[in-house]
Amino acid sequence: MRGIIPFLAGTLIALGAGWVGFPYAINQRRPQPVDFSHKIHADKAGTKCEDCHAFREDGTFAGIPALDKCSGCHAAAMGTTAAEKNFIDQFVMPNREPQWADYARQPENVFFSHSVHVKRAGMTCESCHGTTGASNGLRPYREDRISGYSADIWKVSGTNHGMKMADCVNCHRTKGLEHSCLDCHK
Ligand code: HEC
Ligand code: HEC
Ligand code: HEC
Ligand code: HEC
Ligand code: HEC
Repeated sequence: MRGIIPFLAGTLIALGAGWVGFPYAINQRRPQPVDFSHKIHADKAGTKCEDCHAFREDGTFAGIPALDKCSGCHAAAMGTTAAEKNFIDQFVMPNREPQWADYARQPENVFFSHSVHVKRAGMTCESCHGTTGASNGLRPYREDRISGYSADIWKVSGTNHGMKMADCVNCHRTKGLEHSCLDCHK
């Protein structure tokens, strides 16, 4: 009987450690290659979203900008920050593309079109991506060690939703849309 108290205490501690530790253990974190601030570009360079995240003539979405979108302004330093100097030394001068990690990346078998959601349905970037486009730095990319998927699929940072199948389907239902499996899966 006397042994039960340490036993219960030990169990509680183990459960507590697992509860707190599990999300960290299951997610592998990786910093983005460049210390990029959306906020500074909006404030100091006056850039608009579509300057970097454009729709092409054929309606497809260009996604994350390639280095040539940056090199024009950053051929020489525009300011005195270490972040900018690192970016110029490591990427602009050697003409090396940064390997950006895509927080929203879906599994290969999912088909997603920005054009349908943004242009046809008039949705804002924030409604799916949260506040990344206004942020003052890029949070580390978190990847689920078991599935290899981005952790944002389960919860987009700064929002109360993720980008799981149920999140897509729930929004479609509230808008009276029913899609077959093959509309979303290749
Ligand atoms: C000067 C270029 C530039 C401008 C202007 C810009 N972005 Fe970005 N954006 C980037 C770069 C570079 C990344 C890559 C970081 C990454 O891997 O997510 C990014 C990433 C993002 C992402 C995350 C995509 C993902 O899944 O990883 C979102 C969302 C986003 N931008 C939204 C916006 C919005 C909204 C605006 C306008 C308010 C905007 N951006 C303006 C360069 C820009
Ligand atoms: C229209 C011009 C313009 C474009 C295009 C542009 N930048 Fe900048 N960038 C600026 C200005 C202005 C600053 C602020 C310089 C200062 O005063 O410190 C800046 C600052 C930076 C910094 C320093 C840290 C920070 O974010 O403030 C980094 C890193 C950077 N830019 C990377 C990029 C990357 C990567 C791209 C392409 C995706 C890009 N820039 C495209 C004008 C631009
Ligand atoms: C209906 C939800 C939704 C809206 C609205 C939305 N996105 Fe996305 N975005 C996604 C999904 C889902 C992905 C991942 C696509 C994939 O991996 O196939 C993504 C991926 C991205 C990426 C990574 C590169 C790519 O194309 O895969 C960028 C950058 C991005 N979005 C920026 C934006 C910007 C800027 C806007 C506003 C103009 C926007 N998104 C609006 C859901 C959305
Ligand atoms: C509105 C879009 C949408 C529809 C419709 C849809 N799915 Fe999905 N499905 C997704 C997305 C996004 C994911 C990836 C995120 C996740 O795992 O929840 C996914 C993931 C899956 C997965 C897991 C695959 C993996 O790699 O983890 C299976 C299996 C699946 N769907 C089957 C189906 C079947 C069967 C149907 C038809 C009854 C269906 N889906 C309809 C969007 C959709
Ligand atoms: C917040 C609401 C919302 C979310 C979240 C959302 N969608 Fe949609 N989706 C829409 C609306 C609205 C339309 C109809 C657009 C139209 O036809 O005007 C649509 C249409 C579609 C279509 C049909 C395209 C066509 O050509 O008719 C596909 C496929 C699709 N979405 C896939 C996805 C996937 C995959 C996800 C999750 C990663 C997703 N959607 C998340 C609102 C949403």
